[in-house]
Amino acid sequence: MWGIEKTLWTSNDEKGFTISTDKSLLDTEIIYNFLSKESYWAKGITKELVIESIQNSILCYGIYQRNPNEDFAKQVGFARVVSDLVRFSWIGDVFILPEYRGYGLSKWLMSIITEHPNLKGTSFQLATKDAHSLYAQFGFKPLEQAENRMARPLDWQVIYEGYKLNE
Ligand SMILES: CC(C)(COP(=O)(O)OP(=O)(O)OC[C@H]1O[C@@H](n2cnc3c(N)ncnc32)[C@H](O)[C@@H]1OP(=O)(O)O)[C@@H](O)C(=O)NCCC(=O)NCCS
Repeated sequence: MWGIEKTLWTSNDEKGFTISTDKSLLDTEIIYNFLSKESYWAKGITKELVIESIQNSILCYGIYQRNPNEDFAKQVGFARVVSDLVRFSWIGDVFILPEYRGYGLSKWLMSIITEHPNLKGTSFQLATKDAHSLYAQFGFKPLEQAENRMARPLDWQVIYEGYKLNE
């Protein structure tokens, strides 16, 4: 049993970005703002539900400009993983803030996630509208035998009722 450690990676270039799995370092305001206002997949989500989803995800990755353990460090990106750490993992809520795009940060993040010792052998799944070629670089392919897969769509109204929140 490896256990899930809080780990930190530092970029080996002059830009000084770091990636950390320490949930206590995450800037939930930045994550909430992006997901609620900018994302195409969780538009309008409340801050309570963003925090709930972070708490209940086995691994959350923040990308920071500078080292959040040493300095003021701005969070510039995020991704989270839901997984049983044996066979199955789902990657979601991947984003890099617009002014930090194009520097290879999402590729760095994907390489770290897919190389995690407890995740790297699992079957990874995700959904994307237009970033297929990003994920293809890390071994993702369109679903094989899609006719054998089924999914039940999420229902915001039921989620909000379950958490006793008004939509
Ligand atoms: C998609 C996103 C995470 C990419 O982040 P980034 O740090 O700018 O990307 P990188 O610099 O690491 O490069 C991404 C690579 O994937 C490719 N790519 C494929 N689809 C892409 C897309 N929709 N947007 C950006 N890059 C994309 C790029 O061409 C690049 O490949 P290359 O360097 O081999 O040419 C970022 O644009 C973003 O946050 N978009 C809005 C949210 C989003 O769509 N998230 C993904 C949901 S599945």
